[in-house]
Amino acid sequence: MAANYHKITPNDLEVFKKIVGETAVLVDQASLEKYGHDETEDLVFTPEVVIKPNNTKEVAQILAHCHQNKIPVTPQGARTGLSGGALPLFGGIALSMERFNRIIFIDEKNSQLTVEPGVITQVLQEEVAKVGLFYPPDPASKGSCFIGGNLAENSGGPKAVKYGVTNEYVLNLEVVLANGDIIWTGANVLKNATGYNLTQLIVGSEGTLGIITKAVLKLIPLPKWNKLMLIPFSSAEKACEAVAALFMEGITPSGLEFMERDALIWTAKFINDQSIIIEDNVQAHLLVEVDGNNEDILMNECEQIMTIVEKFGALEVLFAEDQAQKDKLWNLRRKVGEAVKSQSIYKEEDTVVPRYELPKLLKGVKEIGKKYGFHSVCYGHAGDGNLHVNIIKADLSDENWNNQLPIAIREIFELTVSLGGTISGEHGIGYVQKSYMDIPFSSIELQVMKGIKNLFDPQGILNPGKIHQD
Ligand code: LAC
Ligand code: ZN
Repeated sequence: MAANYHKITPNDLEVFKKIVGETAVLVDQASLEKYGHDETEDLVFTPEVVIKPNNTKEVAQILAHCHQNKIPVTPQGARTGLSGGALPLFGGIALSMERFNRIIFIDEKNSQLTVEPGVITQVLQEEVAKVGLFYPPDPASKGSCFIGGNLAENSGGPKAVKYGVTNEYVLNLEVVLANGDIIWTGANVLKNATGYNLTQLIVGSEGTLGIITKAVLKLIPLPKWNKLMLIPFSSAEKACEAVAALFMEGITPSGLEFMERDALIWTAKFINDQSIIIEDNVQAHLLVEVDGNNEDILMNECEQIMTIVEKFGALEVLFAEDQAQKDKLWNLRRKVGEAVKSQSIYKEEDTVVPRYELPKLLKGVKEIGKKYGFHSVCYGHAGDGNLHVNIIKADLSDENWNNQLPIAIREIFELTVSLGGTISGEHGIGYVQKSYMDIPFSSIELQVMKGIKNLFDPQGILNPGKIHQD
């Protein structure tokens, strides 16, 4: 596939400069390196050029030229992704959407928001909160990731357990197709039974079917209150068992996160917070949040939660007393990924199973670790059955890391699927998981996906080398 792509020539660069202007076409080494990586492991694939368009028409003109000339285009958001979705594997263009950073319209009357893809997710959330509205999906990287990347990867985050992931908030998208045509995928309505659901096809398609240039999102009223508890357990598996029990007792937390002992210790060290003391007998924590509009009901729910978790051997619960403490605990949770990364070379798997199966997944991951001799630090969105398995290289030999580990990862994914789950809950398939797609899908199912890809992008120029094996 790679061999067929057209290398970018000085003439192509002139075409691009005419479309977006001189300063938005970068070929200096520093820029090529910067846009050659995201947050996935230590992978770097430099593009031949970085282009920063400013509006839909420019994206359309660039794609039309690339379609005609078979130039690969890798759309990029903030490059915070963890599955290599933004890596320009075949060189070509890194198409950075960072100048698409406008919040176009907050439609308070309909609780909707029209936004460009380069807006930082947290900025978007803060803007709509000013008028009492709420956009719940909140990936750990919300302070730096773009909404466009969230749409492309169908991102989740802690709030998903009560409020759902990105796709549940998308009503309509403006998309530039591979040949430069511009389409809207749906309508700005809350229900829509009008033909195929192109909106949901584009969400999570990782930039392989088209490039999102505007999104209309659904908003909901901002809940008035929340309560947060950090609950230690002397057994990680017991902590996971408590998760499904909470729902079975009628509680739907607005956050239900799991962190293994090492995750918390490493993160406390990483953010230099000595106030977090983890007793020797603590093996894992659940971070549980409830939210709503009636504080008394929330207090009752917290008491109910404490009664339930006690049955699973919960130790002394830390109840966040004020906003500062809540912020501290959430910051701790959000920094786990970075903390793990700072310790060692690692690989992160984004396994997800039906929630009740979570203890079996954790147990199985640890057994596979023992068999292959690797250490893993596990954490994630327990309420969704979504476990991030961080496999640490530490002193594993390169031979083990490169040749044995893919076999071990395959075993982890096979276990995940055998438990009724799948291989990515919220990080996407991108580059690093694509060789495992035969585990959750049959060859017929993969062919259906490939057929859709070929229909949207017959030249294979859009984010090549992602999701599909070839
Ligand atoms: C998190 C990211 C890694 O949950 O998804 O921290
Ligand atoms: Zn996560």
